[in-house]
Amino acid sequence: MRIEITPEHALARDADQAIADLLQAAFGTEAGFGGRSFHKQRHHLRIMAWAGPGLIGHVALHLRAIGMGAEILTIAGVAEVATHPDHQGRGIGSALMKQAIAQARDTVAEAMVLFGHPGLYAPLGFKAQSNPVTHIAFDSGRPAGVVTDTIESLMVLPLGSRHWDGRAAIDLLGPLF
Ligand SMILES: CC(C)(COP(=O)(O)OP(=O)(O)OC[C@H]1O[C@@H](n2cnc3c(N)ncnc32)[C@H](O)[C@@H]1OP(=O)(O)O)[C@@H](O)C(=O)NCCC(=O)NCCS
Repeated sequence: MRIEITPEHALARDADQAIADLLQAAFGTEAGFGGRSFHKQRHHLRIMAWAGPGLIGHVALHLRAIGMGAEILTIAGVAEVATHPDHQGRGIGSALMKQAIAQARDTVAEAMVLFGHPGLYAPLGFKAQSNPVTHIAFDSGRPAGVVTDTIESLMVLPLGSRHWDGRAAIDLLGPLF
């Protein structure tokens, strides 16, 4: 397995297509990727696992300023975590997430944030949080209003000295990722 780390601006068209195909295989057609390599917005960094010419795993990272109560905090959002169904359960997701954490630690982000099942992320240090989260809802790929809710799958890994306030209102200042 070869791990490649590529900034979005340097992503080749065939790699972009390979990510789109992988997301379709891992999440299924119902998940709403619509043949894209991203769900709602493009990312900043792609961490890809290749086996020969085939893409077998992927994690995307993007930086975003969010509101945490009255403060503004820069986070590294983790998204589109996927291992090809033929290769799941062999540690590829964990290996890519470890690379993602290492990459995020080299940025100005003060926390990593994702929405996912604890099974993969809790062993890596992510903790479930129950902050109310304000975000721009999307419907068929288009903004459909601003909503606030508690999202059970919210998980956070602090990176710097800033404390994650588990009771603060979080505003993603954009869509979910
Ligand atoms: C989730 C996913 C990326 C995991 O990839 P993977 O390469 O199979 O993961 P790993 O082999 O590194 O597994 C690491 C740990 O996560 C756990 N895990 C993996 N998938 C899980 C899931 N869907 N729910 C709960 N735990 C899960 C494994 O049990 C494993 O724990 P263990 O080491 O104690 O056995 C892969 O199953 C996938 O692509 N699923 C479909 C897309 C998806 O749901 N993505 C995640 C969105 S948040």
